[in-house]
Amino acid sequence: MGTVKIIIVKDLKRYYGTGKTAVKALNGVSFEIKKGEFVAIMGASGSGKTTLLRILALLDDATDGIYTIRGLEVSSLPEAERSYYRLTQVGYVFQDYALINEMSAAENVYVLSMMEGKSKKESYRTALEALAKVGLNGKHDRVPDELSGGEKQRVAIARAIAKKPDIMFADEPCANLDTNNSKQVLDVFKELNEKYGQTIIMVTHEPWHVEYVNRVITLEDGIMISDEIKT
Ligand SMILES: Nc1ncnc2c1ncn2[C@@H]1O[C@H](COP(=O)(O)OP(=O)(O)OP(=O)(O)O)[C@@H](O)[C@H]1O
Ligand SMILES: [Mg+2]
Repeated sequence: MGTVKIIIVKDLKRYYGTGKTAVKALNGVSFEIKKGEFVAIMGASGSGKTTLLRILALLDDATDGIYTIRGLEVSSLPEAERSYYRLTQVGYVFQDYALINEMSAAENVYVLSMMEGKSKKESYRTALEALAKVGLNGKHDRVPDELSGGEKQRVAIARAIAKKPDIMFADEPCANLDTNNSKQVLDVFKELNEKYGQTIIMVTHEPWHVEYVNRVITLEDGIMISDEIKT
């Protein structure tokens, strides 16, 4: 694990609404994440996990606080730069996969590369590479309906890693999966982390997922109540 501080957040707050009825979804959260960490964010329903992840992935803005990625303060960047960063540097895996049903696994992965302006041939090659990394060799031509839940989620992971993101975010990626498929997905994350040093921040509320990660941050009512680094 490197010593590069890839993420620093200081006193991060996110309020929904204003005045007396404001929901303080995040109420002052501070931590640093080093390159190569695999972090689980845990906590009860409503504790602020998704809110935190969306801000870290630049899908939402904090109400207050400081957020830096590799020393660059992203909280104050203009929207155009934030979108560019989001598109090219941030990998995000959703609970419900967010795949396009009419497209094959390979096409789902390569649409993003095409958007970045790469050629079709180059994009296709990158997509096949990414699919191989998640153990989907030979299934590139299947559409989502022809894949299991775990395989669909692995296509979504391939799509996220195809752009070689600085940081990969996943919000309850196993929520719709049985234990067996969950294990396959978590094994893929673990391998990406160990083999390629991919920094991963994953929201989960399954205690058994903790064995796959090397750090657990726990939220409660919008604040961090524990931060355990496993040895
Ligand atoms: N768009 C919104 N408008 C108003 N309140 C919101 C909004 N999104 C989230 N909240 C509130 O903010 C708090 C934190 O929500 P968040 O989705 O971050 O929780 P979570 O920890 O991800 O929960 P879960 O485990 O159920 O996914 C909750 O009280 C929620 O009701
Ligand atoms: Mg959530």
